[in-house]
Amino acid sequence: MRIFRRKEGGRIDPSRLPRHIAIVMDGNGRWARRRGLPRTVGHGVGAENFRAVATHCKELGIEYLTVYAFSTENWKRPVDEVETIMELLEKYLHEAIGKMEKDRVKMKFFGNTTVLTEKLRRLIAKTEEISARFEGVQVNICLNYGGRDEILRAVAQYAEDYAAGKAESLTEKRFSDYLFSAGIPDPDLVIRPSGEYRLSNFLLWQTAYSEFYFTDILWPDFDPKELDRAITAFQKRDRRYGGV
Ligand code: FPP
Repeated sequence: MRIFRRKEGGRIDPSRLPRHIAIVMDGNGRWARRRGLPRTVGHGVGAENFRAVATHCKELGIEYLTVYAFSTENWKRPVDEVETIMELLEKYLHEAIGKMEKDRVKMKFFGNTTVLTEKLRRLIAKTEEISARFEGVQVNICLNYGGRDEILRAVAQYAEDYAAGKAESLTEKRFSDYLFSAGIPDPDLVIRPSGEYRLSNFLLWQTAYSEFYFTDILWPDFDPKELDRAITAFQKRDRRYGGV
């Protein structure tokens, strides 16, 4: 049996890994400011860290990783910051497409991507199309995503299908099938770095029974070792789902 050891001596039990980890990649701005750098530099380092953490998830055998890259509320940020985040995503997708056959990571996008630039939409479509046949790890990038927006869209679509006689009466399972995360198990572990203790409109429906892990470490410093620490903490939790 493979055991993943942490430097501190703790270890991850590979037979009880979270199937799905969701992360709010928070703290990029503060990371840069503390170094006297523009916030946008923090997003660049944050994007690199996303790569490192996603690779580590793949190596550990995590099945699903969902990251919050841009929320429906993030448009309120300065124009240059929004542009930098979109450019980083373009760069990331461009590179991801280039090495997709080697990496074999399935990628999905959660959120209203119809309002994004044509270039980004083309990259998203290509990424999803090429990676659809890959099995194993799946990375979901939440982009122009909001949990409330997702629920409203699901309600509207269900109502339309019901009125057209195409939907049966509602159950939790049937409702889940109208969400961006249709067919994907709910996150077992939600990680929010940077010392904030909020969900910020992230996966509101899906996190009903998730375990939460908070740390003061800022996202650019949340390296694979920190992920191991979060998983080890998760493995000590007693998940009762409302039972005893
Ligand atoms: C939150 O930190 C971070 C964001 C809103 C953007 C996250 C985007 C990336 C990491 C880059 C692109 C992503 C991928 C998947 C390539 P913050 O700016 O709110 O930090 P602060 O709270 O310190 O101000």
